[in-house]
Amino acid sequence: LNNGLAQTPQMGWNSWNFFACNINETVIKETADALISTGLAELGYVYINIDDCWSSPTRNSKGQLVPEPKTFPSGINALAEYVHGKGLKLGIYSDAGVFTCQVRPGSLYHESADAKLFASWDVDYLKYDNCYNLGIPPKERYPPMREALNASGRTIFYSLCEWGVDDPALWAGKVGNSWRTTDDINDTWASMTTIADLNDKWAAYAGPGGWNDPDMLEVGNGGMTYKEYRAHFSIWALMKAPLLIGCDVRNMTAETFEILSNEEVIAVNQDPLGVQGRKVDVSGTDGCYQVWAGPLSGDRLTVALWNRCSKAETITATWEVLGLESGISVSVRDLWQHEEVAVDAVSSFGARVDAHDCRMYIFTPRTASLRYVA
Ligand code: GLA
Repeated sequence: LNNGLAQTPQMGWNSWNFFACNINETVIKETADALISTGLAELGYVYINIDDCWSSPTRNSKGQLVPEPKTFPSGINALAEYVHGKGLKLGIYSDAGVFTCQVRPGSLYHESADAKLFASWDVDYLKYDNCYNLGIPPKERYPPMREALNASGRTIFYSLCEWGVDDPALWAGKVGNSWRTTDDINDTWASMTTIADLNDKWAAYAGPGGWNDPDMLEVGNGGMTYKEYRAHFSIWALMKAPLLIGCDVRNMTAETFEILSNEEVIAVNQDPLGVQGRKVDVSGTDGCYQVWAGPLSGDRLTVALWNRCSKAETITATWEVLGLESGISVSVRDLWQHEEVAVDAVSSFGARVDAHDCRMYIFTPRTASLRYVA
């Protein structure tokens, strides 16, 4: 969507994956405080996005949405002021149907009034869900909110949450700043790997202004190992997915923080070239030894060696699968070890990767620019 936003994928936090409906204004404020005190905000995590359950079950007598008085007694505008005071941005949630997924009022046929209300609260971001949609196709229900936001007088990030229904990559580039390509993630290896593969299919449609959204991060929620979460974060970064933290950032382990704060991996995600990396090679049983790669600015490449099998193996990326001319010499930097691991690789690069782990690199040409085989 051409509203000036999302030149790189959005970064921040969202309440749903950890808190679900158990949210209130204190949690939101403490999360804002924690993003600042941990330094995560400075690394780019600036959106604090309130998901479902912030609103009362019914509209008021004027037909307006009302924050749940028990949990958000100070109102959404007060929260926006609070997070803006810290240099952060506030996101809100609604639904392109008659109810949200947790049966709060939806915005279908209330687009203009609701967008104006969100703008009057100084909200910066809208996640727009797909429940109770009366069977009307997403293509018809999502553009009216784009028009409403556009006319609201405030520039608001528009995040479509249509769960991949009707292949949004094919039409949502003109509608939103990101679109979900799949059903909801859950905090398991099986869910995360399945979603990565589904999102990969739409790589060609992502770019500055509009990104494929394979759903929010589960890093730190406890259902995967450290290595699995490292793989999750690496692949989401390489796929130019939104990096929306989904854990309780007030109580992170050192390992969770190490993953989420990896500046070199974040820089891949936020690279100005904005090209979504792809799965470029598979080998082993069921193709579980994988090479994922994509171009970066400055003639560089990012490469991930992802072991989805159950035992350690050496995975090799050849210049052929990367599309590089043979003889091109590159230096290789490991983004998790934070060191150069090869200075003159000329036809392939391989490394031993533990089961369910992922290694991630930047390849920089040593002499000439990278040249691709036509
Ligand atoms: C849907 C969305 C989730 C979350 C919940 C909230 O399932 O896909 O991301 O917003 O609704 O109810």
